[in-house]
Amino acid sequence: METIDCIKTRRSRRLFTDKEVPDEIITTLIDCAVNAPSSIDCQPWHFVIVKNRESKLKLARLKEEGNQQHILTAPISIVVCVDINKSPGRWIEDGVTATENILLGAHDIGLGAVYVTGFKSSKPEVAEDIRSILNLPENIMPITILPIGYPDDSEKLEKKELIDVNNIIHHEKW
Ligand SMILES: Cc1cc2nc3c(=O)[nH]c(=O)nc-3n(C[C@H](O)[C@H](O)[C@H](O)COP(=O)(O)O)c2cc1C
Repeated sequence: METIDCIKTRRSRRLFTDKEVPDEIITTLIDCAVNAPSSIDCQPWHFVIVKNRESKLKLARLKEEGNQQHILTAPISIVVCVDINKSPGRWIEDGVTATENILLGAHDIGLGAVYVTGFKSSKPEVAEDIRSILNLPENIMPITILPIGYPDDSEKLEKKELIDVNNIIHHEKW
């Protein structure tokens, strides 16, 4: 797929088939992630691959927004983490750049995926719960949880109305 097509056709997918995601594909996705930009090229990432049903169930239930069933039904979730000691003050951005690369890489390969919040400054206890479920050390912060699998085509995607770029481009000054 052309890069711009990939960017423009990616959507959040929350329904998956039972088909497993092969380990080579998971490796490809992590390879996409580590090619992301990071502050002073610190590359502070760690990735936890979750396949175990019990862990998925705990992760799916911990969100204050309600049950994130897609974490349970996806064959895998990649939890994108950063070492906060390697990325002082920039670890959220560093986690998010890697996240977007995984989402785009997954779409390019024909997988579906969705961004689920891991760290949220207004609710830091969510990240602490993830830390305890996944046994993360103190310096490792979970930023996002990415349920990934082969998309179930029965999922009805809401039509997405994009904002008009003409209203948000400002030439030279606002
Ligand atoms: C910062 C952020 C947090 C999000 N958190 C969640 C989440 O916790 N659960 C979820 O199902 N989707 C989450 N999403 C996905 C958004 O709902 C989704 O990207 C948005 O509705 C636009 O749809 P699209 O991805 O299909 O373009 C999040 C996206 C972002 C960027």
